[in-house]
Amino acid sequence: MDNTNMSYRALCEALLKGEPYAGSALQALQGDPERQRYFRPVVKSAAELLSSPLDILEIGCWAGVSTISWGMALRDLQIEGTITCVDPWLPYFDTHVNKADVYREMNEAADTNLIYKLFEHNIASAGLQNLVRIEKGTSREVLPKLTPSRWAIAYIDGSHTYADVAFDIDQARRLLRNGGILCGDDLELESEQIDPSELSAAVRTNQDFVLSASNGRYYHPGVTAAVGELIGKVLVRDGFWAVRIFKDRHSQLELDLASTTVPSHILKFAKKHEGQAPGYDLYSQGAHYFAVSRTVPATVVDELLGRHEMPPLTFRADTLQQVTEKLQASTKKASPEPDETFNEMLEPRIVDVHRGFNIVKFKRTVYGLRQSIGDVDVTFGEDSLLRRYSHRDVVVGTAVDAVKARIDNLETPEEMQGLIGGLRSEVGSELMKIGAELAHHQHETDALSMNLREQCSEFQRQSQQTALEHEDVRLKINQLSENVNVVTNQRLSRVESDVAKIYQSRIWRTLVRVGGLLNTVLGTNSNAGR
Ligand SMILES: C[S@@+](CC[C@H](N)C(=O)[O-])C[C@H]1O[C@@H](n2cnc3c(N)ncnc32)[C@H](O)[C@@H]1O
Repeated sequence: MDNTNMSYRALCEALLKGEPYAGSALQALQGDPERQRYFRPVVKSAAELLSSPLDILEIGCWAGVSTISWGMALRDLQIEGTITCVDPWLPYFDTHVNKADVYREMNEAADTNLIYKLFEHNIASAGLQNLVRIEKGTSREVLPKLTPSRWAIAYIDGSHTYADVAFDIDQARRLLRNGGILCGDDLELESEQIDPSELSAAVRTNQDFVLSASNGRYYHPGVTAAVGELIGKVLVRDGFWAVRIFKDRHSQLELDLASTTVPSHILKFAKKHEGQAPGYDLYSQGAHYFAVSRTVPATVVDELLGRHEMPPLTFRADTLQQVTEKLQASTKKASPEPDETFNEMLEPRIVDVHRGFNIVKFKRTVYGLRQSIGDVDVTFGEDSLLRRYSHRDVVVGTAVDAVKARIDNLETPEEMQGLIGGLRSEVGSELMKIGAELAHHQHETDALSMNLREQCSEFQRQSQQTALEHEDVRLKINQLSENVNVVTNQRLSRVESDVAKIYQSRIWRTLVRVGGLLNTVLGTNSNAGR
């Protein structure tokens, strides 16, 4: 098992728990977390001059660790805004030029698309999906298409070659609002701190990160040269740089550093070296203090901090003094009495037991003998023992502590393997549980949809029935209205014929005549009256 497995365990945990991951697996954490403590003051300073929304342009986002820091700054300050992420998430290092493992690992993480997946996970688990806009592509492909004078902050952390940083600075100036802030990462040395001929030679090598012969520090030559040439003096803190950009000039930025804090998702990776104790380095991280054995490879120290202590590899306490005392107590317990350590033993004697090994002293040699291999006669001497037994079962040295440290080195990877195995089976059983739950839900969904289907066909049947009943009623109404018509017509024709009969009858004629007579009489009388 290699050293990175610890980091992958933390990555697995973060993925399973739905938390952002910012450790060393996939090289997710880029650079010193301390640098991201300046994001909040930058956002605050931008808001003092510019109205919201404050849109942030981030060039180079990798696993989204810095994107989260920008998002948290907006959220903490309750400022409305967005973050536009420009990154191709593709391999970009020439590993013939940049030969360190980190570049190969980054290319692999991009090539397998794992880094983009982690970016998506990190943004979602930090609850920032609504703030983040993704522009997949290199800055040369994306930036020229973006709206000018729109962004309040442009953060440059993409390709570190001189040509690319210069391009990004040039475009960022076009894209920033008047009074916006241009900032970036990886300015470990400013151009005036380094000999110009050395700087231009370093730029020509196209190397990402080099040691300055004149200054003695590691730096990114492309960033140093481009910032120096295109801008000049900028504010620099721990490699983070920033400057305010106006239409035709730039001005020095002052940041309110009083309330800066390292954002919480990377706090556990911001460790401080507090000193040394025999065989151990002392660190503080957040509210805790740690003693870490120097047998722990530097690449996994970060992963061991913040966890439970793992004596004798790590000890953890709330104060520096407590952790030192813990360490001393443990070393005292494990060490044999001074006379046993320094005096030559004429008979083989077990002086200690350590992680399943008997620590045996004979003459001036110390043997670590795995208990499970049974009795071992150390009087045969070192060579014979090492020929006979595996180097994993017999460890030989001249001091008890050194033999124990070698046993730690042997056993730790196995313990890690055990932890990973445990995690794997935990994940396996979780997956089984999820699978069973899914099957259960599927079953419920099937039953529900069956029920719905039955209800639908019942409804269909009922509506067909109703339609038939409607038709029946319609026919009956038609029939009735027809009957009404017939009866009405019959009545009408009867009335007509009665009227005709009356008209033609003698009575009628007599009445007409009487009416005529009356008219004549009445007419005569009225004329006589005049
Ligand atoms: C140092 S990492 C960014 C780290 C990130 N800002 C953080 O702190 O978490 C550099 C990023 O730049 C991206 N990159 C490389 N070349 C680029 C280019 N030409 N344009 C935009 N991004 C680029 C890489 O894919 C990588 O994700």
